[in-house]
Amino acid sequence: MRVAILHNLRPEQSVGAFPDDMYEEYDTSDTISAICAALADLGLTPVPLVADRQLPCKLQDGQFDFAFNIAEGAGRRCREAVAAALCELLEIPFTGSDALTLAVAQDKAVARRIVSPEVLVAPGRLVEPGSSDMSDFRHLRYPVIVKPNDEGSSKGIGPGAICGSLEAALERCRWLGENYGAPALIEEFLPGVEITVGVCGNGSERRILGVMEIAPADPGMDGNRFIYDVGTKRDWRRRVRYHVPARLPAQTLSIIEASAFAAARLLGCRDLARIDFRLDEHGVPHFLECNPLPGLDPEQGDIVIMCRGSVPYAELVQGIILDAGRRLDIPIR
Ligand SMILES: Nc1ncnc2c1ncn2[C@@H]1O[C@H](COP(=O)(O)OP(=O)(O)O)[C@@H](O)[C@H]1O
Ligand SMILES: [Mg+2]
Repeated sequence: MRVAILHNLRPEQSVGAFPDDMYEEYDTSDTISAICAALADLGLTPVPLVADRQLPCKLQDGQFDFAFNIAEGAGRRCREAVAAALCELLEIPFTGSDALTLAVAQDKAVARRIVSPEVLVAPGRLVEPGSSDMSDFRHLRYPVIVKPNDEGSSKGIGPGAICGSLEAALERCRWLGENYGAPALIEEFLPGVEITVGVCGNGSERRILGVMEIAPADPGMDGNRFIYDVGTKRDWRRRVRYHVPARLPAQTLSIIEASAFAAARLLGCRDLARIDFRLDEHGVPHFLECNPLPGLDPEQGDIVIMCRGSVPYAELVQGIILDAGRRLDIPIR
């Protein structure tokens, strides 16, 4: 079985890129090699295929039986949907969520509207570039966090993202617009524990892969202002401690699992997704966002770290295409 590995490669030389996290979502060649090795172990023939402008022709001419999709694409909120939509057009079965889910999850404000009220979200507002009516923002409780509405991998999120006043938040929105060309999402800051949940499988076979707490290595230093921003992610070995399962009361863990299942169902996730949550000051979990193409970096992918004690890397990757095969009733061999 010829399997196209649809991906976007992080340039080896991204030094000097502006902003410096421009390619943060893209994959390294080590990740692609690790995925290929895992699929080859299953008896498949993996063929790495860069999801660039030539992708339509490459897909059409490549005689592929299946596509393993981790392509982040290029552009704004629909970028992750493009490779999946092309596979659908060319009738190539593919792993993971379809174009609609990929686009909806990329637009954090839309994803919030879809999962809420069944799943709690922090009060928030979308700020389109150049918008001037700010009356609504006075009702938010400060501090807030200001993030790009349609980025991932914590792009555009750093210590300056936490803003103590409306004026500071609007300045941050302007900065995001200028540097990332993105609409901004202002959300009330959730000071509690950060959690990410792996959900795999489909329909009645959907299951929780793990519930992982992402904690500061030095809680004294960061207090409850810890965020999993770009700098922290890059320096995870020194600055982060991961706990699986999360160190939370059983009742909170079961609310988180139910919320993750609900978000995956409401957003239409397939095969594998990672869903981020944070607790408020009362310990109540709130949805942050859903990643239907979670990073599979064999060293530092959050879902890989989450599975380290339970599912070997190759099995995690193979599970994605095996779940897709079951969903589509296509034997994978
Ligand atoms: N409302 C919030 N309250 C507290 N921290 C937040 C909030 N929203 C985001 N963060 C922090 O910013 C990080 C990145 O935000 P997230 O919404 O997950 O976007 P991304 O797609 O970039 O991962 C989170 O992991 C969390 O640490
Ligand atoms: Mg996230």
